[in-house]
Amino acid sequence: MAERKGGKKLKLGVLISGRGSNLQALIDASANPDYPAEIALVVSNVPGAKGLERCRQPGIATAVINHKDFEDRESFEAELDKTLRAQGVELVCLAGFMRLLTDTFVNGWRDRLINIHPSLLPAFKGLNTQARAVEAGVRFAGCTVHYVRPAMDDGPIIVQAAVPVHADDDADTLAARILTQEHRIYPLAVRLIAEGRVRVAGERVLIDGAQSAEETLINPAER
Ligand code: GAR
Repeated sequence: MAERKGGKKLKLGVLISGRGSNLQALIDASANPDYPAEIALVVSNVPGAKGLERCRQPGIATAVINHKDFEDRESFEAELDKTLRAQGVELVCLAGFMRLLTDTFVNGWRDRLINIHPSLLPAFKGLNTQARAVEAGVRFAGCTVHYVRPAMDDGPIIVQAAVPVHADDDADTLAARILTQEHRIYPLAVRLIAEGRVRVAGERVLIDGAQSAEETLINPAER
């Protein structure tokens, strides 16, 4: 993505289906005047999603596009695409958006569509990642922000955070530990993109000017 000219902020479209705590992390980050991105629009496919309420106070534009109102995925996504483009969205951020997107939509936003997933991809794609991580007895879990490709939870990795898995963890305690890091890495990944520092080379992401892995690999200590 090219360098942003004249201090213009990157326009985000955030897609949600529920609680919206990652949306809140992006709202909080963009409240800082120095943050290089702003939320142009939040779209929920679920009417009444809690995340929509988070937009009221900061005055962020919202739209509800209920997939149930459409005959098929294609017509739902055509409306989604039209709505995002009409608002001038430059980067689409999936934030707990629980609908699979077709190849047409994904390819139409190639390298301008990112997702946050609660595992260290490519491990634990799909749902219930935290319960599956506890069950598998892994010592580390975490979260990933990645560019979206047509295959589920697939695509070039931008930032990851690792957290320990403790012997007394259950899915909920692990999910909470991971979520804290999600709220840290989503705004970070968006900032790196908005600063024009993220390049996709092959199917790997390279970060221009990164001094060390520390910027894109976050490894918090205990608990
Ligand atoms: C987050 O944990 C996010 O990583 C996950 O859904 C949750 C949404 O929470 N996304 C996925 O599992 C996508 N495959 P939020 O609505 O509070 O941001």
